[in-house]
Amino acid sequence: MSVVEKFRTMEYGPAPEDPKESLAWLDRHNRKFGHFIDGTWRAPTDPAAGTVLAEVAQGGSADVDAAVKGARKALPGWQKLTPHARARFLYALARQIQKHSRRLAVLETLDNGKPIRESRDIDIPLVARHFYYHAGWAQLVGQRFPGYAACGVVGQIIPWNFPLLMLAWKIAPALATGNTVVLKPAEYTPLTALAFAELCDEVGLPKGVVNIVTGDGSTGEALVKHPDVDKIAFTGSTEVGRAIRKATANTHKRLSLELGGKSPFIIFEDADLDGAVEGLVDGIWFNQGQVCCAGSRLLVQESIAEKMIRKLQARMGTLRIGAPLDKAVDIGAIVARVQLERIDRLVKQGIAEGATCWQPEVLLPSRGLFYKPTLLSNVHPTSIVAQQEIFGPVLAAMTFRTPREAVELANNTVYGLAASVWSESINVALHVAAQIKAGVVWVNSTNLFDASCGFGGYRESGYGREGGREGLVEYLEPSWFHRAPALKKNGAPMKDQADVATPGIDRTVKLYIGGKQVRPDSGYSLEIRGRKGELLGESPLGNRKDLRNAVEAARKAESWSKTTAHNRAQVLYYIAENLSQRSEEIIARLGAAVGKKQAAREVQKSIERLFSYAGWADKFDGAVHNPPFRNVSIAMNESLGAVGVICPNQYPLLGFFSLVLPLVSAGNSVVAVPSETYPLITGDLYQVFETSDLPSGVVNIVTGRTGELLKVLAEHDDLDAIWCYGTGELCATAKALSVGNLKQVWTNEGRDIDLFQDAQAEGHWYLEHAYQVKNIWVPYGE
Ligand code: NAI
Repeated sequence: MSVVEKFRTMEYGPAPEDPKESLAWLDRHNRKFGHFIDGTWRAPTDPAAGTVLAEVAQGGSADVDAAVKGARKALPGWQKLTPHARARFLYALARQIQKHSRRLAVLETLDNGKPIRESRDIDIPLVARHFYYHAGWAQLVGQRFPGYAACGVVGQIIPWNFPLLMLAWKIAPALATGNTVVLKPAEYTPLTALAFAELCDEVGLPKGVVNIVTGDGSTGEALVKHPDVDKIAFTGSTEVGRAIRKATANTHKRLSLELGGKSPFIIFEDADLDGAVEGLVDGIWFNQGQVCCAGSRLLVQESIAEKMIRKLQARMGTLRIGAPLDKAVDIGAIVARVQLERIDRLVKQGIAEGATCWQPEVLLPSRGLFYKPTLLSNVHPTSIVAQQEIFGPVLAAMTFRTPREAVELANNTVYGLAASVWSESINVALHVAAQIKAGVVWVNSTNLFDASCGFGGYRESGYGREGGREGLVEYLEPSWFHRAPALKKNGAPMKDQADVATPGIDRTVKLYIGGKQVRPDSGYSLEIRGRKGELLGESPLGNRKDLRNAVEAARKAESWSKTTAHNRAQVLYYIAENLSQRSEEIIARLGAAVGKKQAAREVQKSIERLFSYAGWADKFDGAVHNPPFRNVSIAMNESLGAVGVICPNQYPLLGFFSLVLPLVSAGNSVVAVPSETYPLITGDLYQVFETSDLPSGVVNIVTGRTGELLKVLAEHDDLDAIWCYGTGELCATAKALSVGNLKQVWTNEGRDIDLFQDAQAEGHWYLEHAYQVKNIWVPYGE
């Protein structure tokens, strides 16, 4: 046999990793674990049967309560430490993780079933990197974010697919920004979190800074509902994400959600096909496809589809499936039987819906939970396997003809977590990357992660980022925000004001939709009265249909986001100029509702605010992150899309501008509901807009009863976000009703914000919520 022949026929021998040390660690704990609360191991209040590996506790609400109390008690001490001292703890944790990396990797593989190659070479090194990177931020956060403070006690809930890595993504930024945490690992995979708790103990982390409570969904629920938690950070299914949004709606808890995905993997005809095949192996068979950002939808240009599928099938035939501790295994076990059954069920449904199924002739181990790498082709874009997250080693393939069609197919999903684009043409790749609605886009690469680059979704993949500067913002709040008093009275009540069927007085305004003044669908108006009860004019009573038209107009105006930032600034300056010219008459009219003094101040401050956001339009730009690979990651600030805005009552003009301007300056289009106290301001606003070159549909104004209009906006499935300024009750309604399409919700949390004070009323805090960050990874080098 020649050497070449021998090379071709060579078989892998078994190369098992030795689990001795990890098993010994389990034995040292008698294979039985309590929770790690306030720096000590506590006996569970309600122990449950465990797994074969070890028994872990099922945390009840008493355990969660003890952990939250521990975290609360530890908070002042942790915050009193110098930034350097906190940095030293994070650094020590990073070192400790590195020192025990092999034990942690084996434990992860034993617990989760993922190949040791992945836990050893990807998960654990990234965990250490995360703590090193955030040790740096612990030292620097005050310099980079002056005037910001930690949220407080953070509840964190993580899934089973990357147990220790998700823990690191959650705990490192939270500690670096001065929060204390209670973390609940997934019920299938709690062991590395418990091992991490031990490392916290070893480095002398102050008691209560990190608390780990194990248990299932009900433990998570208890944490979410605990009244003394200031923020919830969650990674997991979209369904549970929705439940958490609902459960926290009536509270001031900050919320970040990293949910499911159905990420496209797009291959153009000029791509390096062999590179793309290897990319796909990583994209969909990494961690058995149990990855939220798995490239589970293959979109391949028609001209190369057959060739690509042949290459892919050949490669699939060489994938090795087997014991996860074998160092030469590519695909390990599925985490649990329910998941295995779910994968099988979805694949069968896909076949029933017309897909062609192909699996390589590979032997599966006779015992354990394994699923063959699977290729479904001829998949219809509406098929369940093209739309639903399968969370298994299953790739659904479709074809496209033009880049435009590729983008359409890629965005034909409710999700928006990640995408991978393959083309040797940098123009095509970046052009397509910019149009995909996803938080992460990898060019000629896939599944790259680093602590310095933000990760997180658009649309129903959730909101908030983890990693990078953008991830830190999730754990910080401006210090003044905590102190702002509650908003007791939200301007003049509306109840006193009568519906009138016929107009007939001086000042009747209309709605402003798609750049036109339109009458309300209802045919009704509301009488608006001044401070002395005198009739000031009539304002239309907008309804659901008016809002629907307004949202449609806002959608159509999305090219505003592609207008250059310079041009957006020009339009804002022009509005300022026109407002300034009309200031006398506006002050006279607004003065009848809020007093002349306030009216004059509102007009003056609005002009200033227009200048501020004209300035910001081309300055709130992104960043280029430098992960330690041969990549740069371009963190682009992108607009959210179409946003509903409920304006404050007590400042009819300034309130409108304070919320609408950051959004418009960032390239969003808006549907605004102006102050209920004095909606007649709409008339002045559209006259100013009409003379200022603001493209039609960028700002739409619908007047009426705020509570009713808010409901429609919050439930509208074609809005990307809602900003609501009002009482606590109004804000809670906005949050609760947003669960349908999981739109982002940003509110004043029922607080009274002084909109005359620039420090509270404009700048970073507003712009950070007017944009979402997309990280585009671009490789360099040969
Ligand atoms: P899951 O969303 O139920 O679980 C994730 C975490 O949330 C676990 O720690 C769980 O105990 C906790 N949890 C469950 N119900 C809760 C509740 N009501 N309140 C608070 N916490 C709660 O995900 P599961 O059941 O493990 O997987 C189901 C599907 O979800 C998967 O097949 C996959 O499609 C998707 N998934 C997505 C992940 C991602 O990274 N985006 C991760 C895990 C699952």
